[in-house]
Amino acid sequence: MSAPSPMEISLQNPQDNEIPDQNGVIAVDSAPSPSLPHDKVLVSVEVSLKPSSTARIDDVRSAVERMLEKRSLSYTDGPVPVPPDDQFLTENVQRICICDTDEWVQNHEILLFWQVKPVVHVFQLSEEGACEDVSGDGQPSTFNEWILPAKEFDGMWESLIYESGLKQRLLRYAASALLFTEKGVNPFLVSWNRIVLLHGPPGTGKTSLCKALAQKLSIRFNSRYPQCQLIEVNAHSLFSKWFSESGKLVAKLFQKIQEMVEEENNLVFVLIDEVESLAAARKAALSGSEPSDSIRVVNALLTQLDKLKSAPNVIILTTSNITAAIDIAFVDRADIKAYVGPPTLQARYEILRSCLQELIRTGILSNFEDCESLMLPNYGSLKEKLNMPEVQDARTLHMCKQLLETAEACEGLSGRSLRKLPFLGHAALASPYGCDPTKFLSTMIDTARRERSELPD
Ligand SMILES: Nc1ncnc2c1ncn2[C@@H]1O[C@H](COP(=O)(O)OP(=O)(O)OP(=O)(O)O)[C@@H](O)[C@H]1O
Ligand SMILES: [Mg+2]
Repeated sequence: MSAPSPMEISLQNPQDNEIPDQNGVIAVDSAPSPSLPHDKVLVSVEVSLKPSSTARIDDVRSAVERMLEKRSLSYTDGPVPVPPDDQFLTENVQRICICDTDEWVQNHEILLFWQVKPVVHVFQLSEEGACEDVSGDGQPSTFNEWILPAKEFDGMWESLIYESGLKQRLLRYAASALLFTEKGVNPFLVSWNRIVLLHGPPGTGKTSLCKALAQKLSIRFNSRYPQCQLIEVNAHSLFSKWFSESGKLVAKLFQKIQEMVEEENNLVFVLIDEVESLAAARKAALSGSEPSDSIRVVNALLTQLDKLKSAPNVIILTTSNITAAIDIAFVDRADIKAYVGPPTLQARYEILRSCLQELIRTGILSNFEDCESLMLPNYGSLKEKLNMPEVQDARTLHMCKQLLETAEACEGLSGRSLRKLPFLGHAALASPYGCDPTKFLSTMIDTARRERSELPD
């Protein structure tokens, strides 16, 4: 078997006896476990500290490990309740969450406690927010900076839905790149780089995925890199009308990045969105349609990036809407180039399902008893539910069918359009208050068809 990937677990108290909770977590009897396999599955357990907590990370990690040991659980993605009788954990911990088991759970159906080695990652979200580079002289800012893990990106990774293991692939790739660096693998013998390029049509979540990946890695690697920053370079503003100032801006930006990188406990992510604008700027400069010194600026930027990529603690994340080859040497050799396409039927269903659950949670959709506790089945269990209509609650079944119909009607829409659809659907309703979910879904189907018909061919 290849190296086990980081996986999540979810768990529950054995005395709750085999009843899946709303997160699909099943408790298992604490029967004697079969002999322990050597290749246990590593499952990531992310523990978010309360903003007020001042507990030591190591103490929290040990407490969570002990708590997990005491329980006989089956591990699937989702939150694990913080035990109310554990004072230390309730005081310090905001949330415990099992991550990335989906692939394993799909292939092997169930992951039991004795097959798992939990890997606990404890972190505290930074609440500082983005800090812009304010030069104070009226120029557009050339970069934004976040300390990771940042509150703003909390939950972003989970909200992005792709099929075919794209997120896992990215995470494993970056994990391998960082491990090779950490172990001091000689780059002349084995070569790899730390450049990621995500390309695909607009609105498919490329920028979000880059930010979410940086956030995930900052959590997963926090014992090696206790400090983490994300710098988002605004390539557009670097090459806008202030072209004459660009040289200075580039120099300032890279001086800052360089300072961060020199600190070896720092992990620095540099995000260059719409990287094709660099290629365009160079082309314009070469063709003479830009001031003559501009070519030097573009080249300086590319050289700086080229230099930066050899630093061990930097990951360069880039995105592009252009699917054809991008004419920039430094992304040319990106080790991971992933195409991010429009969502498939399954992804569309899951995106819309998450939107609907949110509208139910906030009470925007209501109108019948127990509405708040309504859980729509995920795509995986949908077929089974539709095939056994007799055991289902008629209303839930009807909603599932409508949701599937909406997802089908949304073919070709981007993830961005899908996330707007419930809002448009709601705005189209005659009576916006206490709205019935089934009525709402019928409007959504119409809205989806209308949006679809407005797509360019
Ligand atoms: N596959 C998806 N799953 C869930 N949400 C998605 C998906 N794709 C896009 N979205 C949502 O769409 C919004 C826009 O995403 P984002 O800006 O990252 O896209 P992008 O690919 O960078 O677009 P552009 O090419 O226009 O810059 C985000 O809020 C994101 O949550
Ligand atoms: Mg983008």
